[in-house]
Amino acid sequence: MKAVKVLDNVWWVGAIDWNLRNFHGYATPTGSTYNAYLIIDEKAALIDTVKAPLKDELLKRISSVIAPEKIDYVIANHAEMDHAGSLDAIKAAAPKAKFIAGKRGAEDINRHFKSKFDFQVVKTGDKIKIGKRSLEFIETPMVHWPDSMMTYCPEDAILYPNDMFGQHMATAARFDDECKWDIVRREAAKYYANIFMPLAGPAAKAHAAVLKLNINIIAPSHGIIWRKSHKDIMAEYKKWIAGTAERKAVVVYDTMWNSTEAMAKEIADGLLSEGVKVSYFGLQNNAPSEIMTDILEAKGVAIGSPTLNNLMLPSVSGFMNYLKGLKPAGKIGFAFGSHGWAGGGAAAVEEEMKECRIEIISPCVTCKYIPDDDVLKKSYESGVSLARIIKKAFE
Ligand code: FEO
Repeated sequence: MKAVKVLDNVWWVGAIDWNLRNFHGYATPTGSTYNAYLIIDEKAALIDTVKAPLKDELLKRISSVIAPEKIDYVIANHAEMDHAGSLDAIKAAAPKAKFIAGKRGAEDINRHFKSKFDFQVVKTGDKIKIGKRSLEFIETPMVHWPDSMMTYCPEDAILYPNDMFGQHMATAARFDDECKWDIVRREAAKYYANIFMPLAGPAAKAHAAVLKLNINIIAPSHGIIWRKSHKDIMAEYKKWIAGTAERKAVVVYDTMWNSTEAMAKEIADGLLSEGVKVSYFGLQNNAPSEIMTDILEAKGVAIGSPTLNNLMLPSVSGFMNYLKGLKPAGKIGFAFGSHGWAGGGAAAVEEEMKECRIEIISPCVTCKYIPDDDVLKKSYESGVSLARIIKKAFE
């Protein structure tokens, strides 16, 4: 396993988690990567590590450049174990290395490991010289945890922002110019939607701090490195942080005997008839984290569930719980769903949508048993109404 050159004397030495399929509920159909970077100057500095089970991959990649015992500095930008998990292995392999972290990062990492680290604690504005290069630190609390910080090398014009600008994807490519923009952009949007959407305030502060820097390369801790499209991903983050939506709606539902599904199709047709883009997801076949990627950039949301024991289906309940945690802002929509006798499913969805601060624009559309022509027409018309309000929001 070899290191990958980022620039002269700057190396990617991370690990690829090809078989990862679920990261705390975030579906990762191709896997993920944990990016660590080795900078060789008069001193050698390692930025971040990898998840503990992949520590040998990290050590082999470092060893393809220098003997690990020659590392002088280890910078822990973030205490979460996908990046800090191999710090103990590095400590054993590089006994003379000085470990550097922010105050909270040092505390949290030392809570995790039995063998404590004698951290050099840094704060925003602090820097170390490693030869002709310097490394500067920028605290970015809640991007993604309270301890998070970024490292910036002005001489290389590289930002090491840890989680920000990352993507959970495993690929043989290391750089954005080796991938299609649309694919990497969607993975970055998925990462933002599922990690940073409820943290838009802290992300805005971090984004503003990054904007002041001279940057040629953004080297995040997950996924590909932005050396061609760093300005484009900065612009995308600006839109996501601002909650900028498109003329688009997402239809999400689960179904028991296809009645709620028939309603969902009519709602989608009604939206499309008005020229509004639609993303359509049945919960039996789509991961909530994938659906969130589309909700990030949609103005409208229609969510449907049949009734089970006077409530919504557990699959829809789980989705609503996930949605609530991610705090989507500025969305509008309505609920829908079928029932056999006593209802309750669609009304329960509507209540959860209100808790998500989704503005309810029309009463929930319900159906007893199988949707007749009248129910199908009402479903279609609800889609049309939602589309017209979405379009009005963009006038
Ligand atoms: Fe990739 Fe918050 O860790």
